[in-house]
Amino acid sequence: MNTRRFEDKVVLVTGGTSGIGRATALAFGKEGATVVIAARRENLGAEVVDEIKKAGGEAVFIKTDVTLPDSIENLFKEISGRYGRLNYAFNNAGTSVSQRRTAKTTMDEWNLVMNTNLRGVWLCMKYEIPLLVKQGGGAIVNTSSILGLRSDDGASLYSASKHAILGLTKAAALEVAHRKVRVNAVCPGFIETAMPEKLWEDDPTVRDAIIQAIPLRRLGKPEEISGAVLWLCSDAASFMTGKEMAIGGGHGIRP
Ligand SMILES: NC(=O)c1ccc[n+]([C@@H]2O[C@H](COP(=O)([O-])OP(=O)(O)OC[C@H]3O[C@@H](n4cnc5c(N)ncnc54)[C@H](OP(=O)(O)O)[C@@H]3O)[C@@H](O)[C@H]2O)c1
Repeated sequence: MNTRRFEDKVVLVTGGTSGIGRATALAFGKEGATVVIAARRENLGAEVVDEIKKAGGEAVFIKTDVTLPDSIENLFKEISGRYGRLNYAFNNAGTSVSQRRTAKTTMDEWNLVMNTNLRGVWLCMKYEIPLLVKQGGGAIVNTSSILGLRSDDGASLYSASKHAILGLTKAAALEVAHRKVRVNAVCPGFIETAMPEKLWEDDPTVRDAIIQAIPLRRLGKPEEISGAVLWLCSDAASFMTGKEMAIGGGHGIRP
């Protein structure tokens, strides 16, 4: 099926250089959007831009480190300067550290994970909301996690950051609903990207154990998240705001 739901729209994808963000940037490009990819790795950003352009789409990479407030400010100056508008934003850049219990977490780990996953999303929304309101409406999707809905032994820091994203999502949704801006979140389960590989790099049996705990008995694909993100931004989701969408092959249904 060839649909062009996002023709003439400008969309920002943070963390668009790999994994879920990359798949989402490509999907938006295929559906006619002008895609702004924001992340740190320039070579990968250029590859995603090339791929979108080869498929007939429009894209730009703006080097951004979401842990640096000045870098985020620059990203939005660039967006305003180039396009004068923004229609959708996928705040997806995120990081994790090795499984670490609460009492063993270091200050550096706290700062890295919170400044990337939480402060980065908040600061992006701080600039996105006025742009979307000025535009007369739009949609924001934030990347939380299944670990934003529940937690796990050793996941306290990451899980805290992803729970907090849902708090931001719900509060912001209430603030801007009357301005026709919708704010939702996706909560991916285990998706085949570089991020969860850290969990089984020392012991491949961990991967098998995780798969056995997933009712659909497999890891998800980045495209299985990007489809949901595009749906949440589309008119098909026009009555949905302040909600989280869990996509994890049934993971977490059982207590
Ligand atoms: N894969 C999973 O199982 C899973 C499950 C639940 C939630 N998630 C969430 O999904 C999101 C995407 O992760 P992924 O699985 O696709 O892993 P990934 O391939 O490692 O992607 C992470 C993305 O975040 C970007 N990023 C990280 N730190 C950044 C920074 N300081 N500034 C700008 N960009 C930064 C990276 O780009 P650069 O390195 O180029 O900057 C990269 O594009 C994350 O928020 C993650 O927490 C993933």
